[in-house]
Amino acid sequence: MIHVDPSMTDEEFLRLFEKGIHAQWGTDAIDWGLVETIPDAKKEALGHLITPVYLGEQTAMLGVSSVLPMILTGGHPEPALYLASMGLDEARHFRNLNHLYRVLGVEPLASRRLPEMWRYHARLLQKHDPVQWVFGILISDLFAKTFYGGFADRFPDSVVGRLSRRTLQDEARHQAFSDRYLNRMLPTMDPDAKHELLVLRDDLFRIMERLGERLRGSMEVLDWSPEEFLTELWDDTEKWVRRLGLVSATEV
Ligand SMILES: [Fe+2]
Ligand SMILES: [Fe+2]
Repeated sequence: MIHVDPSMTDEEFLRLFEKGIHAQWGTDAIDWGLVETIPDAKKEALGHLITPVYLGEQTAMLGVSSVLPMILTGGHPEPALYLASMGLDEARHFRNLNHLYRVLGVEPLASRRLPEMWRYHARLLQKHDPVQWVFGILISDLFAKTFYGGFADRFPDSVVGRLSRRTLQDEARHQAFSDRYLNRMLPTMDPDAKHELLVLRDDLFRIMERLGERLRGSMEVLDWSPEEFLTELWDDTEKWVRRLGLVSATEV
């Protein structure tokens, strides 16, 4: 239920909200030049590999706008405030990738060539519970982080690297939000509900394995492999799963 004049005492979320406001930036904050240093074959491969992230940014916008009303009407205005700033971040990421495709002069993969992305999207949308949502958003943020980190390493001096590094700063804040929110909520959940989160993780990873196979050729052009990508993402996810106490270190 929404209160007209809530007391807003949860300082952790309020601080994160302030950070989210002060860290806003626009498309003009990026130097979009120097794409000519990227060979055409690599541009083409980038066009393919950015596709799941591009759709992922839109999924993130949907995720934020689905979970925000659940949290606000659940009587938690502080995390809802933060989510409003996160929605703007995800909208900016979507807008920037839209612009990047024009700057690179390449196309994303046709959606029929990446059916897994729609499966991933559909799996997340099944969820009607805010904790499931935030956990799904966390995994999606880690997925985006692994891609942007790989782009930043491979194209450090071009617009791709600059944009990736800047976007990663936003994604770090999103992870801080998930961390705080899940740490508050998990102790209130029963073991079955916690187990459901691990089922969601496993379903999403199964989808990502198939997605990796489809992207193998483009990854190879950038000296990358689905195995390398998925190992990094799995290790990162497991760190979070252990940190949140979803499984003990010995179970993993
Ligand atoms: Fe994003
Ligand atoms: Fe994000």
